Amino acid sequence: MPYGAEHFLATGETLPEAAYADLRDGFDAILFGAVGDPRVPDGRHAEEILLRLRQGLELTINFRPCRPLPGTGPEGLHLEVFRENTEGPYCLQGSTEPDRAVDLAVHTAPAVRRLLEAAFVRAAQRGRVLTLAHKANVLKHGHGLWVRLFQELQALHPEVSARAMHADALLCALVQDPRPFGVIAADNYLGDLISDLTAAFAGGMGTAPSLSWAPHRPFRCAVLAEPVHGSAPDIAGRNLANPVGMILSTALLFRHLGWEPEAMAVEEAVAAALRDGAKTHDLGGTHGTAAMGRAIRERLP
Ligand code: IPM
Ligand code: MN
Repeated sequence: MPYGAEHFLATGETLPEAAYADLRDGFDAILFGAVGDPRVPDGRHAEEILLRLRQGLELTINFRPCRPLPGTGPEGLHLEVFRENTEGPYCLQGSTEPDRAVDLAVHTAPAVRRLLEAAFVRAAQRGRVLTLAHKANVLKHGHGLWVRLFQELQALHPEVSARAMHADALLCALVQDPRPFGVIAADNYLGDLISDLTAAFAGGMGTAPSLSWAPHRPFRCAVLAEPVHGSAPDIAGRNLANPVGMILSTALLFRHLGWEPEAMAVEEAVAAALRDGAKTHDLGGTHGTAAMGRAIRERLP
């Protein structure tokens, strides 16, 4: 589908209602590129395409794993961020006056509970510690709700070693040593920030994948895969972008759809390409986007 900045600038159209309905009802999954373009300074197309899909399709869970590839970070590191994907300040309610600006952040119990439940289940499955990032010492209402629901779920999941941490202290601990962390749960805003940091532990923005889904599945299409990175307009069209984040996002999508062998094949092909020295410029290599894509494709069974 053509929707993005180019299409918006040419037609004034972001995501038409019919296309949105088609995405919601006519497909099993969405593979999303990246949005953001300096020619649209208010980011209207990003808001009306990406945020609309996340919120409209109720894609509460945004899963952002951090797992270094050969040569891109400490071996054995495996942490996963569960970011709430539809609420907090992303509800885009607020106002700008000459000397005062307000951004409202809305948190609702059903969405917070869905996100936390998924994070608890995953931490239990992996036998790893779960950490909630919050700032309830300041955001008493919104993050107060997060801490309360976290404590409720803690009582229901005694098998999980779980801890709520102030996000500032968490960031400090993460930078010093990310290895003790297993699963991190966070609201939309903190999760956005934390997942860029964790991407940096594993090769940077070019390699980080993500998957969003709606565990309560009200629609046919309840899953969207997208790289963590933005559209990098400064290198657009120059054969410089790293395709790995996008390709690994398809692997997450395959796994979610139940295609485990296909997911593994994609992840192994990416790892093999890097192990054999294929690297884009962001990783200190010389491969262009197309050559990197070919190096991965050649290693698929
Ligand atoms: C991301 C991006 C988006 C976000 C932008 C493009 C709105 O940074 O997916 O992390 O803030 O969620
Ligand atoms: Mn982001």
